[in-house]
Amino acid sequence: MLRTSRSLPVLLLTLMLLALGACAHKQVATDKPAGEGVLLVAFGTSVPEAMESMHAVDAAFKAAFPNEPVVWAYTSQIIRKKIAEQGRPVGGISEGLAKLAAQGVRVVRVQSLHVMAGQEFSALERAVLLDVKKHPGRFEAVFLGRPLLESREDANALAQAVLADVRPMRAKGEALVLMGHGQEQGRAGLTLEGARAVFRDTDRNVFMATVEGARGFEELLAELKTSKVKKVILEPLMLVAGDHARNDLAGEEEDSWASRLARAGITTRANLKGLGQIAGARDILIRHAKESTDDLTREPRKQ
Ligand code: CO
Repeated sequence: MLRTSRSLPVLLLTLMLLALGACAHKQVATDKPAGEGVLLVAFGTSVPEAMESMHAVDAAFKAAFPNEPVVWAYTSQIIRKKIAEQGRPVGGISEGLAKLAAQGVRVVRVQSLHVMAGQEFSALERAVLLDVKKHPGRFEAVFLGRPLLESREDANALAQAVLADVRPMRAKGEALVLMGHGQEQGRAGLTLEGARAVFRDTDRNVFMATVEGARGFEELLAELKTSKVKKVILEPLMLVAGDHARNDLAGEEEDSWASRLARAGITTRANLKGLGQIAGARDILIRHAKESTDDLTREPRKQ
């Protein structure tokens, strides 16, 4: 009798817990999937005309990920400060992730808008990892989408897109000169050489060099002379047609590529368009965002 009266509440409690467990399980099973969201990360720009490219990328991602918040982050502190003063602030990576968390997002797709995986991309990856470590369990997954030019397939797709885009304005025999950003050290220089080879396989009259990287203007000029090029279209191989495109490439200053080419007897005109304004380029970035299985909240898989 005593034993029964003592074990009855235990039995009831056990049944209740089992029922609760079943309920909780059911709730998870019928709940709508975890909130997903996108964080787009770019170096940033303070040139208002360059925003056209950012807006086109924004619209394309919103169409590709309907019903998901799409949040922007700029990695450049100088640019963030400048545009905040202009009254159109964009946050950094941690602010972007916090904004998504506040909107109930549990699965984040971080998409790099860099052209190549150079220093800026490495810094982006480190910043996301540090933020994930600072807020354990905040997200179920944080997938990292690779930059624009990751594979030969990407370079092929970009070459097709850029060449098709410029075709209507390009005269017969007119060369296309693309200005990449580049960096003095590191792997981006090698990525550029790969992209250059793919572009040249597609069109022999395409030339590529960088404003800050290993392949500079002198090499470009020598190549143009060897190929007896007399007329070129100048275009940035960058997400936006910002400061570099408007000044270093096509500007009127005497050290711009346009001025130096003019002094070498080469006629130039500019197609001031960022890659973000070219649909085929945006498609590559969207594909990278969708395809990424690189979850930065997980330990690397052990072999
Ligand atoms: Co720069």
